[in-house]
Amino acid sequence: MKNKTSKKVKISKIEERTLVLMKPDAVKRGIVGEVLTRFERAGLKLVGCKMVFPSEAHYHHHYEHIGKIISRRGEKTFDVLLSFMRGGPILALVLEGVDAVSLVRKMVGPTEPKTAPPGTIRGDYAHVSFAHADREGLAIPNVVHASGNIEEAREEVTHWFSETELFSYESAHESFTIPRRKH
Ligand code: CDP
Ligand code: MG
Repeated sequence: MKNKTSKKVKISKIEERTLVLMKPDAVKRGIVGEVLTRFERAGLKLVGCKMVFPSEAHYHHHYEHIGKIISRRGEKTFDVLLSFMRGGPILALVLEGVDAVSLVRKMVGPTEPKTAPPGTIRGDYAHVSFAHADREGLAIPNVVHASGNIEEAREEVTHWFSETELFSYESAHESFTIPRRKH
């Protein structure tokens, strides 16, 4: 296994990288292993992984500078979300694969667990509605964060991981799950 410290880490043009955060609820419930297994089963390659307890400023950059939560969801949501995320450590991952960004979003499911279909992570491991969270004045504990689109993924991976924390190696999926033309 080689950590490319000096050179820019290369990924194939047909592959993408995306950021997944196992939120404090996932860590405290002890389900990070199960959730990670789902991504591994699909053949996504783990190229970065660390347990962290980020500062408010780090989350501010993630959820407002990149994610535009205040303009999309309002200040109240931003505040409750930040206090939820600051409630414990999280596991930050970078996953790589063909169409990884949209594939991971599909596996994670929509934001509201109540409407997330069975088979998605949010549908299988959570259940509350926006209405319930709003009534309680709390954030929705929906287990994982996943980058929303390719641009967001690029910015988020750079925000959370330095190049020395991202690894380049050959996974079994490159021979089996991801078909490639022989040259
Ligand atoms: O996470 P996702 O991209 O699906 O949704 P988002 O609009 O980017 O919102 C980020 C996070 O804010 C969600 O995952 C929820 O944890 C939280 N949120 C909330 O607690 N209550 C809302 N009404 C909306 C979002
Ligand atoms: Mg989002």
